Amino acid sequence: MLSTTDASWPDRMASLALPLLDAATVAAARCHAWIGRGDKHAADHAAVEAMRAHLSTVPGHGVVVIGEGEKDNAPMLFAGEEIGSGHGPDFDLAVDPLEGTNLCARGWPGAITVLAAAPRHTFAPIVGFYMDKLVVGPAARGAIDIEAPIEENLSTVAAAIGVKVSSLQVAVLAKPRHVELIARIRATGAGVVEIPDGDVMAGLAALVPGGGIDLSAGIGGAPEGVITACAVRLLGGDMQGKAAPQSDEERQMVADAGELGKVYNRDDLSESDDGIFVASGVTGSTALPGVTIASDGFHVQSVLITRDQGLLRIGCTVPD
Ligand code: FBP
Repeated sequence: MLSTTDASWPDRMASLALPLLDAATVAAARCHAWIGRGDKHAADHAAVEAMRAHLSTVPGHGVVVIGEGEKDNAPMLFAGEEIGSGHGPDFDLAVDPLEGTNLCARGWPGAITVLAAAPRHTFAPIVGFYMDKLVVGPAARGAIDIEAPIEENLSTVAAAIGVKVSSLQVAVLAKPRHVELIARIRATGAGVVEIPDGDVMAGLAALVPGGGIDLSAGIGGAPEGVITACAVRLLGGDMQGKAAPQSDEERQMVADAGELGKVYNRDDLSESDDGIFVASGVTGSTALPGVTIASDGFHVQSVLITRDQGLLRIGCTVPD
């Protein structure tokens, strides 16, 4: 829990922002060689190695609380790994070095490198691999209820934004588990933007102006839910999540932890206002352009979100 008497916290956390931006930026640059090459493991590996090397120099003492490997048994940037130079604030890190490995491998839009940092113990300790989520931007704050039917959510979100339900665009992962959800959304007249992968990016698209998405809905990774919540909180949007086990074993694990049916609100998932969220584009999408190469190196576009600065769009050149 954060100490409310420690006034230096925000400044100390803020000192991490640019080094973390560096880590995401360089990781995106290193993915360039793997865009469209059909090898998602190589792409992920390139991102992990680059990000991990940069994270070792970040001025602070970080602990990876959400990392590679919860679903994939990855060997680096795993939960519990300590990162940083040791000099600076203690912080927790939730990281997905390459979110949308398949998107990168296939050259499809929406792959990003992404990480979120926050004061220790302020990200929810999620049990289970999958989470049902609803994410909206600031205009629809307070208008979502994950226990209510999707049709009701579409009505309240449309009313909050001040548009017709039939004008809404909803991002949903194009997975077999979502066939019914997609049909129900379309039956209301709203549009569904089906994305093959990458629901952190979908959440971001709902948050940022011009992202083209009004609501991100459906079941994706639970770790991705916590990472997304950090951005949602910092930008004043809204989010709810609920464990959505996809196997008997996962269901049992969630039930044993007493988390079955528990609704996580935005601030349960990301408890601190002093978080930092960084995402760098690998393959471009409406909300974030992808990495390109020119004679002076890789051009990487990122979003950096902090409490004090809000959303910053930053372009960096990384030498080849
Ligand atoms: P990876 O980056 O690990 O490939 O994950 C992509 C992703 O689509 C996430 O955005 C999403 O939360 C999760 O996978 C959904 O998992 P699944 O593909 O197993 O349905």
